[in-house]
Amino acid sequence: MTHVFDLFNLDGKVALVTGGGKGLGYFAAEGMVEAGADVAICGRNIHGKLDEAVEKLRKSGRNCIKIKCDITNEKEVKEMVQIMKDHYGKCDILVNNAGIGEMSPSKNYSLDRWKKVMNTNLTGTFLCCREVGKIMIKQKSGNIINFSSENGQVGFSTGFTAYATSKIGIIGLTRSLAVEWGKYNIRVNAILPGNMQEGMMEFLQDKDGPMYKMIGPPLLNLTPIKRFGTRDDIKGAIVFLASKASDYISGAKLVIDGAFTINAGL
Ligand SMILES: NC(=O)c1ccc[n+]([C@@H]2O[C@H](COP(=O)([O-])OP(=O)(O)OC[C@H]3O[C@@H](n4cnc5c(N)ncnc54)[C@H](OP(=O)(O)O)[C@@H]3O)[C@@H](O)[C@H]2O)c1
Repeated sequence: MTHVFDLFNLDGKVALVTGGGKGLGYFAAEGMVEAGADVAICGRNIHGKLDEAVEKLRKSGRNCIKIKCDITNEKEVKEMVQIMKDHYGKCDILVNNAGIGEMSPSKNYSLDRWKKVMNTNLTGTFLCCREVGKIMIKQKSGNIINFSSENGQVGFSTGFTAYATSKIGIIGLTRSLAVEWGKYNIRVNAILPGNMQEGMMEFLQDKDGPMYKMIGPPLLNLTPIKRFGTRDDIKGAIVFLASKASDYISGAKLVIDGAFTINAGL
């Protein structure tokens, strides 16, 4: 029997977090580093926020590297996976966090914009699963965590159709891979953050800002746990799914939204 603290320990594990230079991806990386893992983070620009993020992560004493990779580019994804092999010799955990949100009314949504959202959120995530999956299949073990969203559960009237479609696609991808790769001891789960006051929704921290004034109070009103999601909520969920604590959980959706998406509003 394992002590419960040890169930959450990631000592000796190697993780890759796409888009780990900022926002929720950074907190996912920070959580895993604090739990003992070595972590690589990637982004489209090798300098700037990726530099700062990797410096902060290294303060933990863990082996952390940054990799330049646009996940929509198949060649760059393959190169990223080669760097993981060369530097660490393995990859135990893949967190597919990189994503974009593009809001616009559906009747005016251009095909280019639609493709950009799908290419990043869905196809990019698939490419990373496929390429890192090859290492995991050889290892006969692995753990993949895909970022979906509350928008994969409920509709909004503000023009999130492409984003929502991509995020519900992540759930199909997650479930299919969980079933297909279970025989290789690879677990695949999805997390569905709600209204987090970090990353692309960090404007929720500024109560005087115009965006908060427009959507902050109505969102809070519909959230039974009367607050927005924080960095700790992400760190806890990621370390749980990345660790032995969730060893028999695969193909699941972990909703982190203070009961927002199941609230009937009455
Ligand atoms: N914040 C929320 O409330 C919320 C709620 C639900 C779900 N989510 C999901 O959580 C994930 C992270 O969101 P966030 O709020 O942290 O967003 P964010 O602050 O905008 O960060 C997005 C990250 O993704 C990276 N990225 C974007 N396109 C990329 C590409 N083509 N290749 C590689 N990296 C790419 C960005 O890095 P570069 O710009 O350097 O490439 C950045 O590090 C997303 O999948 C999002 O859909 C967020």
